[in-house]
Amino acid sequence: MLGLLLLQVLASCLWLGHRTPPNDALNPKNPAWICQHFSNSYHYATLYDKDRRIPVYSAYKYQPGNAKTPDAPWFVEPQLIGKNNLKEMERQSVLIEQHKFTLDQIKASQAVYDDYAQLKGLNHGHLSPCDHQDSKENKTATFTFTNIVPLDSSLNKGQWHTYESKTMPKMTEGCTTTYVITGAVPGKLHVSQGRVNRPSHIWSAACCLVGQKTPKAWGAIAENDKNKVENLSLGELENRLTKLYGGKKKVTLFNKACPRQ
Ligand SMILES: *[C@@H]1O[C@H](CO)[C@@H](O)[C@H](O)[C@H]1NC(C)=O
Ligand SMILES: *[C@@H]1O[C@H](CO)[C@@H](O)[C@H](O)[C@H]1NC(C)=O
Repeated sequence: MLGLLLLQVLASCLWLGHRTPPNDALNPKNPAWICQHFSNSYHYATLYDKDRRIPVYSAYKYQPGNAKTPDAPWFVEPQLIGKNNLKEMERQSVLIEQHKFTLDQIKASQAVYDDYAQLKGLNHGHLSPCDHQDSKENKTATFTFTNIVPLDSSLNKGQWHTYESKTMPKMTEGCTTTYVITGAVPGKLHVSQGRVNRPSHIWSAACCLVGQKTPKAWGAIAENDKNKVENLSLGELENRLTKLYGGKKKVTLFNKACPRQ
């Protein structure tokens, strides 16, 4: 029942209600569904794991464009700090100075600036990437700690970047609208004195509409300690994730209209 309710909350912001969200096979013990709000509008959706302090996935529309990459500050999520009326991502300093939260209150259920400041061989890995958005606002909204994981630096700058910047444009040729879900599989290791999980894998799935024809779908996955990305069909990716999540429940990322082959 609770699961159903949370799903509806997610569906109401996920792609503005056009698509069904992934099923609950990926849900962590202590989840938060976040409609990512910035500058008075909704941008994408994230399922966040409050215990591991990393996102499970972010779901967004692929709409790359040429706006200048903003010199954005990093945001945290007020919705993860107990009861308050703040709906938008906000800077840590603003929450502390203007809204009188303590840093400990903010850190309790999410990663913050310091968690990513001292990483070695890992850096900020966006799930919903800045480069897949068009406007300055839409790009800026990706710079929030609820949308990133500690990602192997060589992978982040290397093959994962190639997937985002070369494979995606190639695969989306002819697509009218492309829906993307990018996620991270929790790993056994942690960073920042055990505060933040270091995912074992990063993955991405896409399903795109092609006029009146059958939609097109694909996926990719990479281990978070190698500069290597594997191309997969949507069905192969779902099977791989089912195994990586323990095999008890079959993972479904998109609805039936998206081909698994
Ligand atoms: C920004 O993102 C929103 C939500 O995905 C979308 O509706 C809009 O078209 C995007 N682009 C601009 C220029 O606002
Ligand atoms: C994955 O597919 C894309 C698009 O067809 C291709 O350009 C790329 O080389 C492939 N990557 C790998 C690792 O096979």
